[in-house]
Amino acid sequence: MQKPLNITVVGAGLMGHGIAYVLAQAGHSVRVYDRAQEALASLPERLAKIADLFGAPHALIDTVSAHSELSEAAESSDFVVEAAAENLEIKQFIVASLEAVVSQQTIIASNTSALPITRIAEKAFNPERIVGSHFWNPPHLVKLVEVVQAEKTAPEAVEKTISLLSGVGHHAVHVKKDIPGFIGNRLQHALKREAIDLVSKGVCDAETVDDVVKHGFGKRLGVLGPLEQSDLVGLGLTKAIHKTLMPDLDRTNTVHPFLEEKVVLGHLGMACGEGFRTWTLEEAEAVRSRLNTFLVEQAKAAKTNDQ
Ligand SMILES: NC(=O)c1ccc[n+]([C@@H]2O[C@H](COP(=O)([O-])OP(=O)(O)OC[C@H]3O[C@@H](n4cnc5c(N)ncnc54)[C@H](O)[C@@H]3O)[C@@H](O)[C@H]2O)c1
Repeated sequence: MQKPLNITVVGAGLMGHGIAYVLAQAGHSVRVYDRAQEALASLPERLAKIADLFGAPHALIDTVSAHSELSEAAESSDFVVEAAAENLEIKQFIVASLEAVVSQQTIIASNTSALPITRIAEKAFNPERIVGSHFWNPPHLVKLVEVVQAEKTAPEAVEKTISLLSGVGHHAVHVKKDIPGFIGNRLQHALKREAIDLVSKGVCDAETVDDVVKHGFGKRLGVLGPLEQSDLVGLGLTKAIHKTLMPDLDRTNTVHPFLEEKVVLGHLGMACGEGFRTWTLEEAEAVRSRLNTFLVEQAKAAKTNDQ
């Protein structure tokens, strides 16, 4: 059990409320700041819904308080997670506002999806205490966090962040260079680039791509990473496959024209009934429900295994 810390979460949205729950369930005292009153007002109800998923007592979330003043939320804070809008100016403004309130030792971690941490920290007085903490959605069910070391981040800030986030039950990994997409999104979008290209070339339809992943190598990805798998089958085989395959894989180095065309046509995905595939309201709801049920079951099983 870690020493309970005072932690501030900036942004009470989709990610912020889940991150607040993750930190509170580990015994930390969490103050959440948002500039939108509605986000603060609905925070207890959204936290209660997460607690209900795990059958956890609601008393747990009494340690999370909602604040409309950043100075109040961040005063004497040991650690801050910024999960506000994905906008560089907003994030730089939040860093500047935080630096006026917190001590020089307080670590400021940004949950940005794609903005370079180095840019978020570029106007800071103490950039050495600014790190990336890229949680995945939903953070209370997907227990990975990528801790990103920016150009000026001190190694101690990375170590402390990894230690804190490991202590709350997350698998915290160290991203040693501040590159776009960190690790997870680079891998995910390398796969999407080829998936989109296969469909655009008429090799198969979108449903078939999804089937190949879900019924094929996706089955083992949860227990066997791609490089572990290469080591398992042997690097000689991996090399032989790469010799044939690498010259043939898609190399589009911009938004794929097939994706561009979909967006221009307004085929934006489940929310409007058409994306790479067509979706009825019921089908879209069934996908959401299937994903949620799967993630909750996985999280519950992991908790049972830990006990
Ligand atoms: N949604 C995802 O799947 C996901 C996954 C990983 C990382 N992220 C990143 O996490 C961050 C938050 O994303 P989200 O999906 O929770 O967004 P969201 O829109 O659900 O929530 C953002 C919250 O920040 C608040 N906010 C905006 N500007 C603010 C300011 N200046 N001060 C205080 N609060 C402010 C908004 O009122 C809102 O409640 C973004 O940087 C996003 O890129 C999102």
